[in-house]
This record gives sequence, structure tokens and C-alpha cells, in this order.
Amino acid sequence: MKKPFYITTPIYYPSGNPHIGHCYTTVACDVCARAKRMQGYDVMFLTGTDEHGQKIEKKAQEAGQTPKEYLDVIVGKFKTLWELMDISYDRFIRTTDDYHVESVQKIFEKLYKDGYIYKGAYTGKYCTPCESFWTDSQLVDGKCPDCGREVVDAKEEAYFFKLSQFGPQLKELLLDEERNFLEPKSRVNEMIHNFIDPGLQDLCVSRTSFRWGVPVTFDEDHVVYVWIDALSNYISALGFMNEKYDEYAKYWPADVHVMAKEIVRFHSLIWPAMLMALGEPLPKKVVGHGWITFGNSGAKMSKSSGNVVDPFVLCERYGVDAIRYDMLREMPFGSDMPYTNESMFTRINSDLANDLGNLVSRTVAMVIKYFGGTLPVDKDFNDSDEDLLSMVDALPDYVKDAYDTLHISDALETIFKTIARANKYIDENEPWVLAKDEAKKPRLAAVLYNLLDTIRRCSILLSPVMPHVCPEIFEQIGEEKTEFVWEDSEVRHGLKADVTVKKGRVLFPRIDVEKELEELAALSAPARKLPEEPLKDLTDFDNFAALDLRAVKVKSCERVPKSDKLLKFIVDDGFGDRQVLSGIAKYYNPEDLIGKTLAMIVNLKPRKMMGYESNGMIMSVRDGDKFRVVEFGDDIEAGADIS
Ligand code: MSP
Repeated sequence: MKKPFYITTPIYYPSGNPHIGHCYTTVACDVCARAKRMQGYDVMFLTGTDEHGQKIEKKAQEAGQTPKEYLDVIVGKFKTLWELMDISYDRFIRTTDDYHVESVQKIFEKLYKDGYIYKGAYTGKYCTPCESFWTDSQLVDGKCPDCGREVVDAKEEAYFFKLSQFGPQLKELLLDEERNFLEPKSRVNEMIHNFIDPGLQDLCVSRTSFRWGVPVTFDEDHVVYVWIDALSNYISALGFMNEKYDEYAKYWPADVHVMAKEIVRFHSLIWPAMLMALGEPLPKKVVGHGWITFGNSGAKMSKSSGNVVDPFVLCERYGVDAIRYDMLREMPFGSDMPYTNESMFTRINSDLANDLGNLVSRTVAMVIKYFGGTLPVDKDFNDSDEDLLSMVDALPDYVKDAYDTLHISDALETIFKTIARANKYIDENEPWVLAKDEAKKPRLAAVLYNLLDTIRRCSILLSPVMPHVCPEIFEQIGEEKTEFVWEDSEVRHGLKADVTVKKGRVLFPRIDVEKELEELAALSAPARKLPEEPLKDLTDFDNFAALDLRAVKVKSCERVPKSDKLLKFIVDDGFGDRQVLSGIAKYYNPEDLIGKTLAMIVNLKPRKMMGYESNGMIMSVRDGDKFRVVEFGDDIEAGADIS
């Protein structure tokens, strides 16, 4: 019976394309999963997508699609990227999968039945157009942080989870030195000081303001709060409270949940509290790594800030293994990693092209040059080899621990120190001098054999990080095994004595930094496209002056029955109310436009459309194949003229 090992990534929001931030966590988990498989574990590596919530509902609406249509495309991109990046996940969960929905509903029911969830009222500040509740601290200058409009006091019926009662148990869990539940340690202090010590509040776990979620079975006006839905994925994916899988007993509790720091709070407070309330065992470990930040600005690389580096482009140009290596090597455990293309090129050139690539190609070339490709069995090992060999002996245990605990950068740093040591060993032993003396051939054979065997052992340890290149290295150094087994890295002189090497391709071509920087910059600069409407002929100023252009305030807005294009507005033009129609129904929710200050031509002659009179024209700007209204801040008065 193999020992089980269960590792998870967060389930990502498919509200935009995947970027290298998502890649880091997924690749780090992949390394850990691969290493555990090599060590003989029965691994379950779970990833997936978190598909419910208002944001997704809105995005789909903006794209003129149903949520599921919208999601399928982006989820497809996540899966394609994971395939390209060689992610060896065992299961991919989507929170829209039926079996997951079933589990979430049953979990919610059980918590309600057992008294951990109760019905209450949510009071807070409400932004009507955004349909969102905000706490006082979330407001920006007392206004909605999303749209900047006024909020009102509101009260809504909602279900609450009794998080407040779990404070002492959670504190004990986090402070348990032996358990080491949350790493790095700095996050433990953060959780205790920022959340537990000030007093945990009960958590509002249902919403009635949108529909795109898991319905509460016994009160269908409510959908389950996305985080309750999302966190449940870690057990629903194993068949907890559903019929789809039957692996809960085998894999739960998870060995490690991996994520970045911003969602550690959900995983180290809400998630254990939910499990305690369900009476289920807690995961063994939660690891919260730092962010990939953009350049040196410290800003998190994220979809919403637009500073996203496209992993598809990077993998295609520089190779999947080089990108995997770079990310993992550059992210120090627990801290952020500022990403720049330049530092990536430098890292690839120095570690991969110079140190590892050269070590392999020099060694193989020397075996071919001095021995025609096959080493003789007769070798003269001596004590001066010990320094290198004992360094390699120490690697497997160290690297195993480091991979297990997601200290992957430390593992790589140590492996590459050994690779540098091996390069130095070549210079110390001067094979080109030994080769001149026939009597020294056995010594020359020993030196080259030590090098090949060091490369073999390092390749085994590097194979979870570089799953494409390491098999190629095996081929070049004449290792006939095709499977990477951890124990083989522990064996000194495990390579066949009369090994035959094979010259292969350059494993990591050197990157021309200047040229690549220029090419990447050109790729990311959007191609200039000519606007769709050509420029019109010149006109007199009088024609312009004849138009009465003003700011107007939208008082009401609704769809025109039987028209999928038209919205009907009542706007205040500063003198009074007027009705106007606009063909933008495809791009907006009518409610979202109420309260906005828009630009309008007010003196166009009235015109009838679909039986309604339109008095003027609301101005919009083309945005690809959509139109967006031209709008002003709230502080602009109705009737202000535009010139
Ligand atoms: N859906 C939630 C997670 C639910 S888990 C039960 C979510 N999704 S997310 O798409 O925003 O993904 C957040 C996670 O993606 C981070 O915690 C991290 O693992 C990864 N990263 C996203 N951007 C990142 C960086 N810029 N840097 C490093 N990791 C980042 O939160």
C-alpha cells in the first residue's frame, strides 16, 4: 500500500486569462507532487476554478454571454496553460460541477441543522447600482469603493456562520509549535493580531443580491457565499457528501494547501472553523507564499491592474522548463518576487545555460573526445573526489525536505551550488592535461565518471522542476533508465561503469538579452489599429455651435419591451426631465446606469423608435465591438454645457 499524499492549489477565478501569478502556485505544487510520486507516494494533486459570484455574473453579462458560456472559454485557457506547462494535476474541479454543488448544499444544510449557521440580518452600507453591501471601513470617502457613488444604510436577511465562537480553538491551532499548521510563521502573527485578538465576527454566508451561486436548498432566495462554496472544493473533490468520488477516507486530511498570502486568512481561519463545525479533521498544513510583483513597483501582478505577463508567450519563446525554473528559483520562501524579463534572462543564462548546460555539454564532449564516447571500466578514484561527492550525497535529503515544505528556491540554490562545484572540479582536475598522459587514463576516466554521476543525481532531483529537459540529460549522459526514482539520487556511483554518452542538442540556448527585451517590448505594445470610422470632411464652426451638448443625470433607465437594442431613459437636463432612447441595451444593465452623469446632445429633433419618443442622443464611445457611454463624475451638475 502506497502512502497517500494530498496537495492543492487555490481554485482560480476565471474572470480573466491566467497569468504567471497563477503559474507560480501551480508549478510549485506540481514540483511537490512530482517529488512525492518519485518517493513512492500515492499522490492526489488538485487544482480547479472558482466560478460563482457576482463578478463572474457581471463579466458574462458585459460579454453578452451566459455565465457558463463565458466560463467555459476561460476555464479552457487555464487547462491549456496547465498542459503547456506540464502540470501533472490528478483532478480539476469546477465549482459549477454538479457533484460539487451537491456537496456545498449538503455542507450548508448540515451546518444549519447543527446550529452553526443561523438566520439573521445583515446591516451595512449598500450601493444600489452595484448591488453591493460594504462595511464602513471598505468605503472610500464614505462612498462605494467600486463606483464612487453614494451608499445608503440597508438591512438584508442573511445566514451567518458562527465564526466568532472558534477564536480560542483557532488561536490554539495556530500557536501549536509541533503542528506547525501555518507557514511561514510571520503569517501566524498576522492572523492572530489582525483577526483573532480583535475578536472574530460571525460571517455572513449567504447572498440574495445576485443569482449566480449555489442555491441554499431550504431558502432558495439565498445563494451560498462564494468562499464557503470555494473552500468546500478541497473535500467535495474527494467525494465528501457526494456520490461522484469515494476518496475522502483515503486522502483527507490534505497534506498541504498552497496559496499566496492574500487568501491565507480564509484558509487558516474560516476553513478550519468550518471543518471543526462539521466535525471533520483539519488539513495538516497551509502555506502562504509571497506575490510575483511587477517590476520593482511592488504591485501584485494581477488581471485587474493590467500588468500581466503572458505565460503562453514566455513558454513558447524560452521553453517551459526554463520558465518553471526561473519562477521557482526567484521566489524566496514567504517573500515577494519582483518579476522583470531582464532578471529572468539573466537567471536563465547564468544558471541554466552557463552552469548546468555547460557542465553537461563539456562533460559529454570530453568523454567523446578522450574515450570515443564510452568510459573504460578501469578507473582511478582518489580522496580529492570526496569534496564533490559528499556534497552530492547530502543533496537528496535536503532537497526532499525543501520540496516537501515548498522551500523550492532553497532547494534549487543548493543543487546549483553543487553544479558550480562540479564545474570547479573540472578546472581542478584539468582533464585536458590528464589526457596527454596514457598512464593517467584511469584517473581521467574517474574524473569524467564522477562528473556524469553528479549530473545524473542532480538531474533526478531537478526533474520535478524541469520535467522536459531532465530526460534529455539522462540520454546525453548515457543513463539508460527512463524513470526518475528518488532513491536513485541517493546512490553514489549508480551509473553503469562502462557508460556510453550521446551528444545531444544545446539544452539551454543563451538568450541575447538586448534583442529579446526589444522583441518582447514590441510584442506587448498593442498594434495600432485604424479607427473604424474614417475622418469626416471639414465643417464650419457654426455647425458645431448649433449642437446643444450637455451633461445630464440619469433618473431612470429600463429596457424597451421587445427590443434587444434600446434602453429608455428619463434624464434631468438641468431644466427638467426628458425621455431619450439609446441603442446600448446589449452593453449595459439598465440599473447600472441610474445615477450616472452622461454626455448628451439635447437639441436633436424628437424621433420615434419602437413607439417611444426620443428627445436627443446620449453619447457613447466605441470600445472594440461594444459601446460605452461617455460619463462624468458626480460633481458635474445636470445641464452643464459641453463645449
Ligand atoms: N478563487 C479564490 C481562491 C479560492 S481557494 C478555495 C482566488 N482566486 S484567484 O484567481 O484570485 O487566485 C488567487 C491565487 O492565485 C493566489 O492566492 C495565488 O495562489 C495565485 N496568484 C495570483 N496572482 C499571483 C501573483 N501575482 N503572485 C503569486 N501568486 C498569485 O483567490
